[in-house]
Amino acid sequence: MSYDTILSTTNNGITTITVNRPNKLNALNKVTIEELHKAFKAANKDKQTKVVIITGSGEKAFVAGADISEFADFDVKNAEKLAGEGQKMLFDYIENLSTPVIAAVNGFALGGGLELAMACHFRVASDNAKMGLPEVSLGVIPGYGGTQRLPQLVGKGRAMEMVMTAGMIDANKALDYGLVNHVTSQEELIALAEKIASKIMRNSSVAIKGAIKSINANYKDGVDGYKTEIKQFGKCFGTEDFKEGTTAFLQKRKAEFPGK
Ligand code: COA
Repeated sequence: MSYDTILSTTNNGITTITVNRPNKLNALNKVTIEELHKAFKAANKDKQTKVVIITGSGEKAFVAGADISEFADFDVKNAEKLAGEGQKMLFDYIENLSTPVIAAVNGFALGGGLELAMACHFRVASDNAKMGLPEVSLGVIPGYGGTQRLPQLVGKGRAMEMVMTAGMIDANKALDYGLVNHVTSQEELIALAEKIASKIMRNSSVAIKGAIKSINANYKDGVDGYKTEIKQFGKCFGTEDFKEGTTAFLQKRKAEFPGK
């Protein structure tokens, strides 16, 4: 599939999706959000894809936010629609994807850009990365899940301060906060994400799917995460991957998971 504002390539089990509007610091406009949805959907369906990495084009930005020029003249109704549809189509969609998604934050991740990174299953960053939710400096609040996911990742007090000050934190502070899992140089960033992806790929994709669902259940209103875990744990016992994993262990060999 070809896109206007993103790139998507698949190699060795990894689909790398790149937001490709470097002249606008990869800001997310309507088309980009729709194309990202399509690319994630296609990657999740693709049997070759075991892990998705999302990054930004160029050396300056991951994504510098939602495209401000697109919503500057919105009214209350349009703004609610923008946030509601965007959350459903992209941010919640990524969070609940059964294929693991790693954000490789290669520069500015601001507003919708940080919200995009936070919707991914985890994040790695380059040492030049800068992260923040600057929306209140524009007279608005984060609308793509930022007020919910930032406190989940860094704690309520830090999230309050970041949102209220509209400030940016650097990669090392983000590491200290637990917002990103690893920091490396910009040149090494994709290689690092791919190295982690290759470790993930050695494991059972069906078990990973159940684990993502169970971990996410902890953060969903009205859902009992322990019950979700029990259900998903049980489900594993009916899979070919479980048979292969346990048999391989007992036979002292490496498991070759069929992914079923
Ligand atoms: N929406 C739309 N366009 C954006 C954008 C955004 N969120 N972020 C950057 N751009 C555009 C700029 O308008 C500029 O376009 P132009 O060359 O056509 O004028 C281009 O990207 C380069 O950005 P510029 O501001 O010139 O780069 P800089 O290095 O001086 O500053 C930032 C970098 C990230 C500090 C600055 O671009 C910025 O503050 N962006 C907005 C961040 C934000 O508030 N995001 C949350 C949105 S809800």
